[in-house]
Amino acid sequence: MSPKLSSSALCGNKIYGALLLLLPWFGGLVLGEISSDFSKCLEFFYDRSPPQGINAAWYQPICQRYKNQYHFASLYNREHRTPLYSAYTLGPADGKRPNSTWMYEPQLAFSRASSEMTPFQIPLDQNVIESQAVLQDYRQSNFTKGHLNPSMHQKTKENREATFTLTNIVPQQAGSNSGPWSRLEGAVMRQFTRFCEGPMYVITGALPYEHGARRINNRVFVPEYMWSAFCCPTYKSDLPKPERTFFPTYAAVGRNDPDSGQEIVPVNLKVRRSVRGYDVKRMNLTALEDILGQRLGMPISLFAGQCRK
Ligand SMILES: *[C@@H]1O[C@H](CO)[C@@H](O)[C@H](O)[C@H]1NC(C)=O
Ligand SMILES: *[C@@H]1O[C@H](CO)[C@@H](O)[C@H](O)[C@H]1NC(C)=O
Ligand SMILES: *[C@@H]1O[C@H](CO)[C@@H](O)[C@H](O)[C@H]1NC(C)=O
Repeated sequence: MSPKLSSSALCGNKIYGALLLLLPWFGGLVLGEISSDFSKCLEFFYDRSPPQGINAAWYQPICQRYKNQYHFASLYNREHRTPLYSAYTLGPADGKRPNSTWMYEPQLAFSRASSEMTPFQIPLDQNVIESQAVLQDYRQSNFTKGHLNPSMHQKTKENREATFTLTNIVPQQAGSNSGPWSRLEGAVMRQFTRFCEGPMYVITGALPYEHGARRINNRVFVPEYMWSAFCCPTYKSDLPKPERTFFPTYAAVGRNDPDSGQEIVPVNLKVRRSVRGYDVKRMNLTALEDILGQRLGMPISLFAGQCRK
């Protein structure tokens, strides 16, 4: 009896192993809604081209769907349980910040699940908890829920509500979120309303620590830096001189850790204590792409033809 059992167990193992090898291939081919690309939401990328050079198995493209419409796009890092970036087109908010009902992404837990973001329920399915960040991760973490696509960069109530999915959120220090980073978001909005004469494409992301990852609740990776870039292909021809360097593209990197080195973003010691060490450095697109390329270990191009196609 027992020799037979063990041989069948062995055989089972072999089949299981073979299936595991096949899984990535099947995954892309036959499983329902979850997509291996951004084909349903290319409108949120300049020239309908998502950033080039970012490809690794753990990145999951998400077309952010809410109330039957796509609102923006995110590239989700399944290992880190945070987005690497969110990509969106900017529209000035035509109302207040909405009541935030936080949502999750069923399709990350079940590949055949709805592709609509869904309000968190109690109790929450264990598969959901495994597959992504949940509200519990942020509780008592000392980090705020930092929007990559901020609600105030979105025009309609539905657009704004759709930004309250945790797949658009990274653990961000309050000193950054309510200080220099929020001022950057305001500055980008002003560039848009004053000088941009068509769509403005924004990509905002998080940069992981190079060494010694930090996590909240032992699950969700904390970014060392926030970064953002915009592309406004059609802008006013009579730009004031100081604005000329910002069109058609513009970029910035912000500190999320006062103890980080100063080689990427220097610290201004003269600012008030609550925001000290959370500086944001403005730079051109090439400089940001160089930083991202070095840190992520791959050459990266955020906008097709540097936004000059
Ligand atoms: C938001 O919540 C507040 C308090 O719970 C409520 O009074 C208000 O009507 C809500 N607003 C919307 C737009 O749902
Ligand atoms: C949050 O900050 C408080 C006060 O600085 C500290 O006592 C606590 O350990 C921190 N919590 C976490 C999860 O780091
Ligand atoms: C971008 O900025 C870097 C550093 O300030 C500079 O060396 C480079 O010439 C700039 N590139 C462009 C295309 O303006």
